[in-house]
Amino acid sequence: MANSKYEYVKREFEFHRHLPASNWIVVRIDGCHFHRFSELHAFEKPNDDRALRLMNACATSMLEKFPDIVIAYGVSDEYSFVFREKTEFYKRRESKNISLCVSYFTIVYGMKWKDFFPNNDLKEPPYFDGRVVCYPNINTIRDYLAWRQVDCHINNQYNTCFWALVKSGKTEKEAHQALKGTSSKDKNKLLLQQFQVNYNDEPAMFRKGSTVYRDKVKTDDCGNPIKRTREAITVSNFDLIGPEFWENHQYILGEASDYLCLGGKEKYGYEYVKKFDNIHRLPYSNWTIVRISACQFDQFSLIHSFDKPNDETALRLMNACASLMMEQFPDIIFGYGFDNEYSFVFQEKTELYQRDERLIISSCSSCFTSFYMMKWKEYFPSKELVQPPHFQVEVSCYPEPRIVCDYLSRRQSECHNRNQYTTCFWMLVKSGEGENKAKEILKVFFLSSFRSSFITYSN
Ligand code: GTP
Ligand code: MG
Repeated sequence: MANSKYEYVKREFEFHRHLPASNWIVVRIDGCHFHRFSELHAFEKPNDDRALRLMNACATSMLEKFPDIVIAYGVSDEYSFVFREKTEFYKRRESKNISLCVSYFTIVYGMKWKDFFPNNDLKEPPYFDGRVVCYPNINTIRDYLAWRQVDCHINNQYNTCFWALVKSGKTEKEAHQALKGTSSKDKNKLLLQQFQVNYNDEPAMFRKGSTVYRDKVKTDDCGNPIKRTREAITVSNFDLIGPEFWENHQYILGEASDYLCLGGKEKYGYEYVKKFDNIHRLPYSNWTIVRISACQFDQFSLIHSFDKPNDETALRLMNACASLMMEQFPDIIFGYGFDNEYSFVFQEKTELYQRDERLIISSCSSCFTSFYMMKWKEYFPSKELVQPPHFQVEVSCYPEPRIVCDYLSRRQSECHNRNQYTTCFWMLVKSGEGENKAKEILKVFFLSSFRSSFITYSN
């Protein structure tokens, strides 16, 4: 099955957007439908300590997994990850960056769920969307983080008042009405006078959000003093708006020498910060294909002892996830998968996320990951999921159904080639050849077109 006939599909329609060099990359992840998710899992209102600590644990895992993340800041169901200015993470490819971050965050959320909610089973797959935004200098990054922390303060103060009123007997409508037009001062007064609550005594994690970064410490893991400083990933609830944290942690972003003069002109510049958000909408009247593929799958399949060359159960698990994707996203009209990948064709006129590419990429990658995690036990009842599976996503658009068909033919031809190769490879290995020797033999066979006669040879 010649693949070259379909090569044009890749050459002419698959593009990779690279994020601009010398910019700080921020990936902001946000829980999808967490209003419903938090109700379903009976989160405490307005803040659930366990849910927030679970988010912090996921952020910590992100810093462990991706060393180029220098700081993360989270509140409620969102987390922002700042990659260092000169990161070459997947050559700064936007789709890789966003899909891998969201997928990895999702899988850790699912795998750590039981540590924080031991008596509460996951009732629906948690999933997240994400956006990636570039900031050109330290000032704008600091403004960005300050903006998120101000948002945290505004929302948390409102929610604290709102739920205090509701718990005291007001209806939700009455509580909203009572808070309409109130200033920050009014809200503090209300809490103090009606509920004897000093807002500043509320836990810092609720008021300030959480910051995760590599701290320089002079103690070992048990807290004993050591001579040399070492880096330890730390979760704290510091103020990021004022200068103190940054003065004490200059190594995280570097020095922002003109920060004060810029900040003085437009206080914190939040409106300015929002302008960096760069939405790419997929072209209209095009068929969108989202291709999901597992990362580091060789290692994953080895650790989970998948059959070689094909593990039927693993393939059926992928198919089950694909079916769930079609239920979750009714605009998907067709799915095709093999090995560790799946392609989903969206109907031509889909308005999913108003065709915002980042949101489509991230939510598809997150959803698929979450389904994989939730379905694992059903397909592998006697195997523990020990390593987090995570998936990357590419999206491309095709103007005509004919090209969509050629895309699918290309994938199937790739399936054939790959499967023929791995079938031969594992036959040789099982017959006693070393893996390197098997590769060498196959090089010869696959260069000359004797593939079909190979099976005869190996027997
Ligand atoms: P989308 O992000 O647009 O999908 O909507 P969403 O439902 O996730 O809402 P949004 O992201 O705007 O806000 C997050 C929501 O998550 C809050 O409104 C809460 O309902 C819920 N949430 C987040 N953290 C907590 C928590 O600690 N306790 C409770 N009770 N709810 C929380
Ligand atoms: Mg949300």
